[in-house]
Amino acid sequence: MTQIAIIGGTGLSWLPEFEETHREKRMTHWGEPSSDLIHGIFYGAEIVFLARHGEKHTIPPHRINYRANISALKEAGVNAIVAAAAVGGIRADMGPAKIIIPSQIIDYSHGRAGTFFEDNLDHVTHIDFTHPYSPNLRKRLLDAGFQAGIRAIDGGVYACTQGPRLETPAEITRIERDGGDMVGMTGMPEAALAREMSMDYATCAIVANWAAGKSNQEITMTEIEVNMLKGMADFAKLLEAFFKVG
Ligand code: HPA
Repeated sequence: MTQIAIIGGTGLSWLPEFEETHREKRMTHWGEPSSDLIHGIFYGAEIVFLARHGEKHTIPPHRINYRANISALKEAGVNAIVAAAAVGGIRADMGPAKIIIPSQIIDYSHGRAGTFFEDNLDHVTHIDFTHPYSPNLRKRLLDAGFQAGIRAIDGGVYACTQGPRLETPAEITRIERDGGDMVGMTGMPEAALAREMSMDYATCAIVANWAAGKSNQEITMTEIEVNMLKGMADFAKLLEAFFKVG
């Protein structure tokens, strides 16, 4: 059976229409996850919700205990994760409030605990990461977007920066030259850790703003919040179709 978790990011610390049944506090070998695991029913499906930045949105991207979050979900029986992520849009068609199902990742973050395979190993382990996002879960999300009448963009390269500051325009130019299409701060090591735990993982990226230097204006928190509200409404519709179909 597929047990799905949703990891909520900036602008999604709660799901509309979600009926909470119970909460679970889990302590893992890797420490404490960002929030309780919140179990409940979402459009008829039993799911688990985890707030990546904490329920009060107080944990910045570089301080998230990604290992604790992924292992807590694994221990709770989760085998597929839909991760919501706010991003800055770089590619011309990736403007504010758009929804993207990325297909590739470049990791510019540093100093994050990024693997479970570190100590007391029988042998060194290298996961295959050719497809960093589960092709099957990506397809299901894209199909759900289609059903819901939302034009989710199929594919694109998610560039993960360290944050918590936003980027300089020069950094965005470099990322663009590298092939990055959108920029966020939390995609890694989350995706790699899920793969290490053999969990299906896919991201729904919601564009909060044009990346630095891609518009004439400075990026404000107000702009980010307004766009996330718009994008989240579409994301909720996509999820509704995802669970009704799925
Ligand atoms: N850069 C990095 N992360 C982000 C951005 C951005 O412009 N917007 C939302 N998350």
